[in-house]
Amino acid sequence: MNDTTTKWKPELYNEKHSFVYNYGENLIELLDPKENERILDLGCGSGQLTFKINELAKETIGIDKSAEMIADAKSKFPNIEFQVKDAENFKFDKKFDSIFSNATLHWVKNYKNSIKCMYENLKSNGKIVVEFGGKGNVQTIVKQLRDSLKSRDYIKQSELNLWYFPSIGEYSTELELAGFRVLFAEHYNRPTELADENSGIKDWISMFAESFFIGVAENHIEEIKNEVQESIKEKCLIDGKWFADYKRIRVIAIKQKNVC
Ligand code: BEZ
Repeated sequence: MNDTTTKWKPELYNEKHSFVYNYGENLIELLDPKENERILDLGCGSGQLTFKINELAKETIGIDKSAEMIADAKSKFPNIEFQVKDAENFKFDKKFDSIFSNATLHWVKNYKNSIKCMYENLKSNGKIVVEFGGKGNVQTIVKQLRDSLKSRDYIKQSELNLWYFPSIGEYSTELELAGFRVLFAEHYNRPTELADENSGIKDWISMFAESFFIGVAENHIEEIKNEVQESIKEKCLIDGKWFADYKRIRVIAIKQKNVC
């Protein structure tokens, strides 16, 4: 990996990180898709939630920046339309009734552009239902990872900022500035059980935070992952199971014309 763009590995994602879409299922209840609606799944990954939404809606399109994930989605759900597109820069000729996004928007550093794209691709009164990492998300893991990198003099790596984790105040303000009316916003703790009892935190780092190791000596990588996992045992190992300290924000907002 020679840049900080995360390279997705669909097999590892589906095998050990299926919680990403399993947790997203109750977000579909908030979306409440209708049989006459056209819906966009923004950051669809390998398409599991797109498929569920599509069972309830008229038409669902899934987009994701990762060509690997889109190829996996197309092979699993050949009757659904999937496209490789960037959440910061997408445009469709036909607008959507709703835009759904689960566990994606924290990867979008240029959040103003993604909000603008969502707004422009929605019909008037169209709705967004989004959930992603909020302020303080995975801070136990990431703080220790930064400390372990820093103590070995990987200063640049320890300062890497891969994600956007806003508070609901910050994100709602951005939505309002773009012309949305925020109907609902929630910031909640969602400790997330990791699949592997031996290497839960190490696997999480390998899947989602590998970019921190660009330029790190090969013999230090495993050592740092071990150190991080060992050091946060007290907080993250509960009854023999590893948990990541997720904090999510969940927001519903409507595209509206200017109001006084
Ligand atoms: C999340 O879903 O909160 C998340 C996933 C990977 C990296 C950071 C956050």
